Amino acid sequence: MRATKYNASWILITIALALLCFIMVNNLLGKLTRFFPNIFTFHIDEAVITWVIMIISLCFAIGVLLIQKILKYINLQAERRRREDERMMNAIIQAEENQRQKFAKELHDGLGPLLSSAKMSISALSQRVEGDLSKEIAYNIDQAITLSIKSIKEISNDLTPHVLGSFGIERALTSFINRLNPVTITKITIDSNLGTKRFDTKSELMVFRIVSELVNNTLKHADASILIIRLDYNNHEMAIELRDDGTGFDTSEPHDGMGLSNVTSRVGAVGGKIDIRSGIDEGTHITIYLPMRKIK
Ligand SMILES: Nc1ncnc2c1ncn2[C@@H]1O[C@H](COP(=O)(O)OP(=O)(O)O)[C@@H](O)[C@H]1O
Ligand SMILES: [Mg+2]
Repeated sequence: MRATKYNASWILITIALALLCFIMVNNLLGKLTRFFPNIFTFHIDEAVITWVIMIISLCFAIGVLLIQKILKYINLQAERRRREDERMMNAIIQAEENQRQKFAKELHDGLGPLLSSAKMSISALSQRVEGDLSKEIAYNIDQAITLSIKSIKEISNDLTPHVLGSFGIERALTSFINRLNPVTITKITIDSNLGTKRFDTKSELMVFRIVSELVNNTLKHADASILIIRLDYNNHEMAIELRDDGTGFDTSEPHDGMGLSNVTSRVGAVGGKIDIRSGIDEGTHITIYLPMRKIK
């Protein structure tokens, strides 16, 4: 059907052009007969010319109309494809989140209690064992189990930040940064107007994932002395800004990692905007705008 419309539009426009060309050439030749009486021209009646011009106009009008319809159809298809991509991206992100939640739950609810009961047993045992060596071994095992419990809590929290679900974005990111600051050379600060504002779980998780990926990038690649994070919610839009004074990178060069492209896809999938400005030795400045609705 589209192909027929496409062909018809070209045929109509070609006919119109051919007729126009014929009339113009005939007219021109008619004028030249004054100088070259031997030239053959058709004598076309005024009324016929009027009719032909009407036909030409009609052919053009229908041809242009068909082309417009085809263009509209192409735009519609592009929009459909974009929506389909968006749907796929959302499904992938959701599947990833579900996986993380499952892992976190298994670690927290499965391995956590097992280690706790091992810790209780080793504590009970250490009270009964005799001899310095045995006491030391029991103490070491107890310490190892305590550390394992702590690290399981941390891993589970990294997978699905519990603070995020309970207290929202600002508190979750502040606690994420407070854990990082003592162990990095980069001083991270956060300036936010969110307070205790709450959004739907998906949006909150998205902001958290985006900021944590970008913070990790600065810590991993930038060798920066400061990283400033700004969160600004206004008029159903969340502005996220991260600025570091690190090594920067060439944004026009292709890179292997998945982190930045994941962030870009996540932002695109919800109809947001991202602007990445960086250059060698110029630091990195990333600004993201996400459409979001406050629920509390
Ligand atoms: N803040 C930053 N400072 C310097 N380089 C960066 C920064 N963020 C990203 N990059 C560069 O961009 C590349 C792509 O980042 P990303 O997609 O997150 O992949 P990954 O972190 O897995 O390497 C990084 O390898 C790094 O070279
Ligand atoms: Mg990364």
